[in-house]
Amino acid sequence: MNEILIQDTTDFFKEKFGNSPSKTVLSPGRINIIGEHIDYNDGYVLPAAIDKIICFAFKKNNSNTAIIQAIDLNESIVIDVTKEEILSEVVWTNYLRGVLFQLKLKGYEIGGFNCAFSSNIPTGSGLSSSAALECGFLFGINEMFNLGINSIDIALMGQKAEHWVGINCGIMDQFSSVMGLENKVLKIDCRTLDYTYHEANFVDYSLILFDSNVKHSLFTSEYNNRRIECNEGLSIIKENYPEINSFRDCDVNLLTSLKSKMTDNVYRRSLYAVKEIKRVIQACVALDNGDIETLGKLMFETHEGLSKDYEVSCAELDYLVDLAKVEEDVIGSRLMGGGFGGCTITLVKKGSENAIKGKFTKLYADQFGIELKIYDVKISNGTSLYKKN
Ligand code: GLA
Repeated sequence: MNEILIQDTTDFFKEKFGNSPSKTVLSPGRINIIGEHIDYNDGYVLPAAIDKIICFAFKKNNSNTAIIQAIDLNESIVIDVTKEEILSEVVWTNYLRGVLFQLKLKGYEIGGFNCAFSSNIPTGSGLSSSAALECGFLFGINEMFNLGINSIDIALMGQKAEHWVGINCGIMDQFSSVMGLENKVLKIDCRTLDYTYHEANFVDYSLILFDSNVKHSLFTSEYNNRRIECNEGLSIIKENYPEINSFRDCDVNLLTSLKSKMTDNVYRRSLYAVKEIKRVIQACVALDNGDIETLGKLMFETHEGLSKDYEVSCAELDYLVDLAKVEEDVIGSRLMGGGFGGCTITLVKKGSENAIKGKFTKLYADQFGIELKIYDVKISNGTSLYKKN
């Protein structure tokens, strides 16, 4: 499937710009096994890059102008790369403008270039198409102009670009899009950015993404609110226990002792963060030991926390997880990504995949009148240059 995307992107570039691209970049979306909403809370996360990608074709054009074509939208923009970037009303362009803004901020000088890109990452599904866009675009510019930016800085600058657009996100999406490895999940320590790779072996189970096919508009404002609420929780903890700097160093008893000093929302957000940080550590050990039943149980617990305490779920996602809970052949499921719509990530016994997919599709349509989308993903490499075989 990706070969066709790459060929189509290359053909489009040739047709539009009259020559072949000098660099072709593949930039993936990501899944996350467990560790949700704790990348910005000094936690650990367990994501992986997937085989759904954005393909970019690039070539310098010896001018000061970047001409960028979004093939799938049939829209293009022309940007003077010597000028200061400002936010545009055309939303997709802001992720790219954000990258150019970061480059300028850090003193990198670039010239003009032509670029065309096309994607098969579903948007609004919690698979981080925006991180793939930022990081793939920056990766290509870095290659074309030999800027020498290392992979982790590409991820960090991608994250800053996303902040510039208005979402105060953590580092998980950009980091996993850039640093992913085939058949490995990444355990990232979001406090230090240390990371380790772990075998993505789910033994007798398959990972399936069920896409609720809804995206509630609350996403950006509520996402940013959660960060504010968590910061408030942490500052109350610090006022009382100055030696504690992070939810990571906190336990449930300590937090409960401060309950009366917090609003109910701030308490529950903090409680979720403290518990989820501990769950990821247990989940990673379970994965390493091939104990997929324990991993699945932890995923159900995460969903419960995200739905009841963190309040980033919605009726559609809760319904999909409730369906999963009563199926004997499904051992774990939870909402994945920021929430308020998008996908659940679900562990289904091998051999039962088709039966479960069929059943969920029917029940979901009966309940909401919405078509359930389903993705089988392969865990793949992070952002890379495409080299023809
Ligand atoms: C979004 C953000 C990430 C992370 C997840 C929730 O995908 O971009 O940084 O916070 O939500 O885990």
